[in-house]
Amino acid sequence: MDSIRIRGGKPLSGKIRISGAKNAALPILCATLLSDGESLLRNVPALRDIDTTSALLRFLGRDVEVAPPLVRVGAGDNVRPEAPYELVKQMRASVMVLGPLLARFGRAKVSLPGGCQIGTRPVDQHLKGLEALGATIRLSRGYIVAECKRLRGAEVVFDLPTVTGTENLMMAAALAKGRTTLVNCAREPEVEELGRVLNKMGARVSGAGTDVIHIEGADELEPFDHAIISDRIEAGTYMVAAAAAGGDVLIENAPLEDLEAVAAKLRQAGVEVGREGDCVRVRRDGRPLRAVDITTAPHPGFPTDMQAQFMVLMCLAQGTSRIVETIFENRFMHVPELSRMGAHIDVDGHTAHVHGGAPLSGATVMATDLRASASLVIAGLVATEGETEVLRVYHLDRGYEFMERKLAQLGADTVRVEGRAG
Ligand code: EPU
Repeated sequence: MDSIRIRGGKPLSGKIRISGAKNAALPILCATLLSDGESLLRNVPALRDIDTTSALLRFLGRDVEVAPPLVRVGAGDNVRPEAPYELVKQMRASVMVLGPLLARFGRAKVSLPGGCQIGTRPVDQHLKGLEALGATIRLSRGYIVAECKRLRGAEVVFDLPTVTGTENLMMAAALAKGRTTLVNCAREPEVEELGRVLNKMGARVSGAGTDVIHIEGADELEPFDHAIISDRIEAGTYMVAAAAAGGDVLIENAPLEDLEAVAAKLRQAGVEVGREGDCVRVRRDGRPLRAVDITTAPHPGFPTDMQAQFMVLMCLAQGTSRIVETIFENRFMHVPELSRMGAHIDVDGHTAHVHGGAPLSGATVMATDLRASASLVIAGLVATEGETEVLRVYHLDRGYEFMERKLAQLGADTVRVEGRAG
């Protein structure tokens, strides 16, 4: 297993480019199941989650060629509407093949994803929505077994906004007969992006990106050619890294309009964030950072996927910052590792109090989820003493394309060490 070694204490400067959005690419890859013919996805990042989804599509019978930033999905011969545990367990987002398979083939057998490191993460809202569209669903030996004649448009009211749940239902409704109205939807930009692709395919989707989405289903959908939006969480991560390490960084292709909650908190903390042409410029001079409180919330609130990274910044601020995680029940796994690096953080249920100002020092650390791993890399960048080695980099490789290279491009001392045990 690879690790990343970081010698911290260097300010960042220069320019990097943001890659395509992982969480937009994954549902769009699943949407290729809705049609025959060859679909082309552009601006796809080279990530492990993309490889996992491609392997799943191949297992389902599609012909997939991955050559980032291009992915081509061809018809294949025989579609087998069954997603096995071995593939779904590697990535929960695999459950998004359920809606398309069911809508297209009238049946699907998809492994229940099970719990994961950041929480129990049930899929009840996905199942309830598909039932409202006319599916019969039973759970059998760890699998969701779903059947239907043709799905029918219906009104679905989600009990809470769920990103992949909204996306699963949008894809199913795109081939359903008649009109579906989804209420209390997730408003994330990736949901909006899927709406754009379904429209290219011939469904009529309106309201994606708001909390009410209407979908007029089609009898058949066309393949598509689409360039994926850039990754707001990757951009936000580099914004926080620049703020934490200090310096002056230009981030190309960063969708600042989708990152307002993060930008506002950075400015409140004393960091300069602004637009410069098609870049976002993040600048911090030697002045101390102010402690600010954050509460994660569905979009357009502060993203849970930025919580761990922002916590590292707050370790450097003057005063105590209160960080409340409202989306997932177990998303403070980075705290014990940050504490090993010298951070002072108390956790009480969903709330962390970060007592800033203590210097961080390098250590060998590891995390068991993607965003927590990114936070440890940022902690390594600001550790003033000793070297940091972040183990189990495969978590990072799920969601950040060439992170150590992009940071090195900004002047950080970051290298990948291949094959380190962990
Ligand atoms: N929930 C339910 N029932 C459901 C579905 C969700 O109770 O049927 C709960 C979840 O347990 C959670 C909340 O609803 O408490 C929101 O979860 P959501 O369904 O929105 O999360 P997700 O769709 O599984 C996506 C991203 C995550 C991101 C979350 C929240 C993808 C592929 N994944 O997950 O991304 O954290 O939305 O914004 O889009 C990441 O990229 O590191 C990552 C974890």
